[in-house]
Amino acid sequence: MPEPLLHLQNIDAGYGHVAVLHDVTMSVAEGKIVAVLGRNGAGKSTLTKAISGLIPLSAGEITLAGERLDGRSPVSIAGAGLQYVVEGHRVFRAQTVRANLDIGLYKQPLDKEARSARRDHALELFPELSTRLNDVAGSLSGGQQQMLAIAQALVREPRMILVDEPSLGLAPVVIERVFSALVALRDLGVTILLVEQIVERTLQIADYGYVLRGGRVAAMGEPAELRTSPALQEAYMGNSAGGAAAGARP
Ligand SMILES: Nc1ncnc2c1ncn2[C@@H]1O[C@H](COP(=O)(O)OP(=O)(O)OP(=O)(O)O)[C@@H](O)[C@H]1O
Ligand SMILES: [Mg+2]
Repeated sequence: MPEPLLHLQNIDAGYGHVAVLHDVTMSVAEGKIVAVLGRNGAGKSTLTKAISGLIPLSAGEITLAGERLDGRSPVSIAGAGLQYVVEGHRVFRAQTVRANLDIGLYKQPLDKEARSARRDHALELFPELSTRLNDVAGSLSGGQQQMLAIAQALVREPRMILVDEPSLGLAPVVIERVFSALVALRDLGVTILLVEQIVERTLQIADYGYVLRGGRVAAMGEPAELRTSPALQEAYMGNSAGGAAAGARP
């Protein structure tokens, strides 16, 4: 088996004295969509924050193409080719679509033409944004804001993106649009770690998946295996605590 692009080895992480992730080991093969499923409070966002360097590990190691990521700053991790798309389609609402894309290019040593080419390239998958470059991001629909958040990561031409719950707050038809863009992106060669709470649609586009429960890996496997896994059903039933502090959103 080739070396995975992203590898997490026995990681623990949390917030100060609050331990959330326990002994998490995961691999993401290059060119794949790997899903991390789990109900609210399972530790999914904590996992994305630990990978992207926003919170430190208390144990374990993270590597990208064999290079250590843990202990590095978020900027350095992004520079290594891993872009993080945070939960809740966060964009700068008062800024234009173009300005939001340029924020993704902040401090990149590119001239005007190169910036414009990066923007065009990032928007290839999202034609609905190309006509909105001069509009403020706050005037976009929730789905378009999620697409903009993804496009903002793509202007950096990352090797891999980490997308935290892109379906959050979106109508099913819009989720469909965003997920089909993620498939197109994977087909263009961008590796994706997709953190989601919605199970079936995520398993339809994933090549491999992990289930988090109480901050631990409760199951892993190909989508077909996971669908029938009792651990997946259990992870979505009852109290999610099982180790992590219960902090589910209503
Ligand atoms: N800043 C924080 N300080 C302390 N505890 C936190 C913090 N953020 C999250 N937690 C706790 O960590 C646990 C996991 O939260 P996390 O946000 O990772 O879950 P999640 O799987 O992303 O859930 P959701 O589906 O609601 O986004 C919860 O018990 C939560 O209360
Ligand atoms: Mg979350």
